[in-house]
Amino acid sequence: MIIRVATQSDRSEILNIHKYAFGNEKGPEISRLVDDLLDDETAKPILSLVAVDDNNLIGHILFTRAMITQPESSVSVQILAPLAILPDAQNSGIGQKLINEGLKQLKSSGTELVFVLGHPTYYPRCGFAPAGKLGFEAPYPIPEEHSAAWMVQELNGNIFGNINGKVQCSQVLNEPQHWRE
Ligand SMILES: CC(C)(COP(=O)(O)OP(=O)(O)OC[C@H]1O[C@@H](n2cnc3c(N)ncnc32)[C@H](O)[C@@H]1OP(=O)(O)O)[C@@H](O)C(=O)NCCC(=O)NCCS
Repeated sequence: MIIRVATQSDRSEILNIHKYAFGNEKGPEISRLVDDLLDDETAKPILSLVAVDDNNLIGHILFTRAMITQPESSVSVQILAPLAILPDAQNSGIGQKLINEGLKQLKSSGTELVFVLGHPTYYPRCGFAPAGKLGFEAPYPIPEEHSAAWMVQELNGNIFGNINGKVQCSQVLNEPQHWRE
């Protein structure tokens, strides 16, 4: 299994990964979200990585640009969304590998903060911690019972404790249905 940056010709396979991984109910919507995010100018720079096994794409992760506003700041921010592994390839560490490779590349290109809205037992394994307690508000309010799902990690800089505010995501991601845990 290798991890590499996605290319334009991977696009339909990537959309299928999300369709199958998220299942009948959410799959089509997440697949459309990825399709739209890949064309969203306000999401750039993006980082789109695929996991490839025997020439077949089995996993995909997408990071898109965000900003801290209210108060405005120049911190370099990315959001991890979404991540999907084909059902047959799940639970063999590929998700973690995609996250870790993405974080490594973002760190070396100077990204300071990475946010995720996801499962609060999964993402802390890759260094994420609750973002609300650190003073970062999600683009849409996260209900109190799901507050642990809104997470962040610092890759560069000395941001925690010095800067906080509301996270503004790309236009495509900035729809309330994408912020329900
Ligand atoms: C969630 C997902 C990305 C994890 O990737 P993966 O390669 O299967 O997981 P890994 O092998 O890295 O990690 C396995 C561990 O994660 C746990 N895990 C798997 N899916 C999980 C989920 N949706 N929530 C919480 N934990 C999960 C497993 O129970 C396992 O735990 P263990 O190590 O204690 O046994 C993958 O299962 C998937 O694509 N699921 C469907 C799409 C989805 O829900 N994406 C959510 C991210 S936006």
